[in-house]
Amino acid sequence: MVLLSPISLLSLLLGIGLPTVSYILLKIFAAHENPAKNLPLGSMGWPLLGETLVFLKPHSSNSVGTFLQQHCSRYGKVFKSHLFGSPTIVSCDLELNMFVLQNKGKLFQASYPKSIHGIVGKHSLLTVSGNLHRKLRSIAVSFISVSKSSPDFLDLVQKLSISMMGSWNGCKQVSFFEQAKAFSLRLMVKNLLSVKPEEPLASRILEDFETFMTGFVSLPFNFPGTAYAKAVKARARLSSTVREIMEERRKGNINSNGGLLREREEEDFLDVILSKQNLTDEEIVSIVLDIMLGGYETTATLMSLIVHFLGHAPLAFHKLKVIYEAMRCGTVVKFVHRKALVDIKFEEFVIPSGWKVLPIFTGAHLDPDLHENATEFDPWRWTDNCKEMNKKIIALGGGVKLCPGSEFAKVVIAFFLHHLVLSYRWKTKPDECPLAYPYVQFRKGLMLEQFHRGKGPLRLFTI
Ligand code: HEM
Repeated sequence: MVLLSPISLLSLLLGIGLPTVSYILLKIFAAHENPAKNLPLGSMGWPLLGETLVFLKPHSSNSVGTFLQQHCSRYGKVFKSHLFGSPTIVSCDLELNMFVLQNKGKLFQASYPKSIHGIVGKHSLLTVSGNLHRKLRSIAVSFISVSKSSPDFLDLVQKLSISMMGSWNGCKQVSFFEQAKAFSLRLMVKNLLSVKPEEPLASRILEDFETFMTGFVSLPFNFPGTAYAKAVKARARLSSTVREIMEERRKGNINSNGGLLREREEEDFLDVILSKQNLTDEEIVSIVLDIMLGGYETTATLMSLIVHFLGHAPLAFHKLKVIYEAMRCGTVVKFVHRKALVDIKFEEFVIPSGWKVLPIFTGAHLDPDLHENATEFDPWRWTDNCKEMNKKIIALGGGVKLCPGSEFAKVVIAFFLHHLVLSYRWKTKPDECPLAYPYVQFRKGLMLEQFHRGKGPLRLFTI
């Protein structure tokens, strides 16, 4: 067994090399003791490790969790801490969060931890900024907006929904979260790469994506057998798969015997993107994986949250705003990572240049000052004041990184749920609960029980 000194352990945990540790220690303590800056109250926790582990402690996803609850009541909605290896300002304040998200990359920029760079690569939308971000983002945005209103895409969503539900015939239980992930990933790979849902390659991509996603919430120990190392490998395999399909396309989709490798009825995303002259192969692979990464688990999570909440509030079936309310109350994305580029004054505080800023979405979504009975799933709250409610929700981020996929997700989910509620009734286990890890997981996989075909007509379910 290898014993590590506390410093080496911390350097591993934070994904940095030993030589940088003493420099960082110096920086942290300098930041701790900067009397010129009027920092918000808070605690910095342990050197280097800060408060990261308590911050990441899983909790029910329709609550802010003990860490935020205790810190907000002790220090206020904006407080300082030390998270993911950096001195950090944590904000549960709607106004500050809007300000951070909506500025145009001049005061704040996205700043995901180094360990995430190691998984997503250096061309990912998560990690790039400035002109490269604008260039790659515009490609993702145009593809997503064309897809969501294309009749072929809607037909695909419909067919996949019906075939998935067909496969449940005779089942007394269905592990819904798993099914939702398979559904949304198969939809993505068909739409992006023309990989058919029934092809073994679709299952392999799904498996690699699951491993890839696990790495996001693992400690960045890059040695054999760890979740992090497996994620890095899964990302490399996914990248090779996309490259191979690209090569096929370039060779005209013809195999060595002169046969067609993969049939395509219509142009897919890869055809469109390959026709663009100004992208490197690495950038093409990265955009394809970014769209899958952005859209696959988020859509599946939101579908599952809705199914979970509806299991507890069946009357809400008839409510139009279940999608919005599940986004508010279940929190698909808990927070995003930003960094201040200059000293910024907010109210009486200063956010020092170079500090990390974490806008916490749950902070605003579950704030009792903003929402009555904030932790309750209540789609009725949207009925009369949808516009006002929208101003208090930041589930899709904002500014230059505003999620381009929200309408896409809504269309997919509305189609799927339309078929689900027309055909089925279900109950969930009484102790089932969505947990923020911080990505949502279901304690028992969201097992649907007493699962049977519904009788009698239900009203159409629309958004
Ligand atoms: C179900 C609901 C969804 C939620 C709650 C959600 C949430 C978010 C959030 C909060 C961000 C901002 C990240 C940041 O500021 O650092 C984001 C970005 C992004 N999302 Fe979504 N998302 C959803 C669905 C989708 C779908 C379906 C797609 C693709 C089809 C997608 C693609 C993307 C992409 C490509 C970005 C990166 C944008 C950029 O960096 O400029 N999302 N999403």
